[in-house]
Amino acid sequence: MLVLGIESSCDETAAAVVSDGRLLSNLVASQDEVHARYGGVVPELASRRHMESIIPLARAAVSEAGIGMADIEGIAVTTAPGLLGSLLVGIQFAKGMAFATGKPIVGINHLEGHLNAVRLERNDVPYPHVALLVSGGHTSLYLVRDFGDYKLLGATRDDAAGEAFDKVAKLLGLGYPGGPVIDRLSEKGDPNAFRFTTPKFEHSAKFGSGNPHLDFSFSGIKTAVLLNHRDAASKGRVNAQYVADLVASFQEAVVKFLTDRAVTAAKETAAKAVVLAGGVAANRHLRKRLEERCSDSGLECLIPSFHLCTDNAAMIAYVGERYLRQGKRSDMALNATANEEIGL
Ligand code: KG4
Ligand code: ZN
Repeated sequence: MLVLGIESSCDETAAAVVSDGRLLSNLVASQDEVHARYGGVVPELASRRHMESIIPLARAAVSEAGIGMADIEGIAVTTAPGLLGSLLVGIQFAKGMAFATGKPIVGINHLEGHLNAVRLERNDVPYPHVALLVSGGHTSLYLVRDFGDYKLLGATRDDAAGEAFDKVAKLLGLGYPGGPVIDRLSEKGDPNAFRFTTPKFEHSAKFGSGNPHLDFSFSGIKTAVLLNHRDAASKGRVNAQYVADLVASFQEAVVKFLTDRAVTAAKETAAKAVVLAGGVAANRHLRKRLEERCSDSGLECLIPSFHLCTDNAAMIAYVGERYLRQGKRSDMALNATANEEIGL
């Protein structure tokens, strides 16, 4: 079944075509240069850029797949979670296409997309597995028992891991997005120069998963970096090596926190593998450490290619095709939802 996937939940406009679980085309129009000068995503600017990009991008994805618009047999679109204005651009485009062509449409949760991206490269993904989803908007652990069967095991109580990378880079004046900059700069720094501790929770909180020992929190580490930097600045100790040591130590603390929790979750649930998803999966230290920790614990470690870890429409088209095949359909009342967790 030829399915066109549309994704516009944050600051990437994306369109992809999937057929029988195989990727035929996968295009992403990044908006990084629009938001870079503000040090973060500006929602109104994101919506406007989505409106400019969506039609040419969808056309290009269809033509790159070697087909025409009339060949598309179904449309899958991200409806939640995300920025409402951004989501609405993709949804309106998808509804317009479905109305004009009479083809079925299905709304997809962005998080479910991330959890299934790995299946575009591997059809032997072991179940059950634990998925660590780390992006600019999310940091969560899920038990994935099968396609469509998810259980939330852990979640951040404040910032997402990628958001912490971006905020630390911003406060140090290193540019946006912060993750790749800190990843590169950390190579020159000593990860043990400073010790940043991560919190241990005893109780459930309003935000989080209900499993305190598997929840995350990054705002404390971010504040500790800020205070360390202020102190160094007041003593005239800020130089290139200091900054490299500071970000390397920050990255070390974040990666340790993420990998400790992921391996604990896998052991507790008797999972066979750990799957990494989301933009922070690009982090070289995280990839290496997770692979080592999994191998020490006899767990398989699956890390999809980078273009399937970051926001993309291929994962939306993949999940959409599965649901459309099951007979699931959305109608023209399809709408955007800012917050929508899965696996609760
Ligand atoms: O999944 P994604 O493309 O978009 C969403 O947030 O949904 O993730 C973007 C996030 C940003 O916060 C960015 O700083 C982070 O992923 N990121 C990285 C790296 N590359 C991107 N974080 C750490 N190390 C990297 N190499
Ligand atoms: Zn995402």
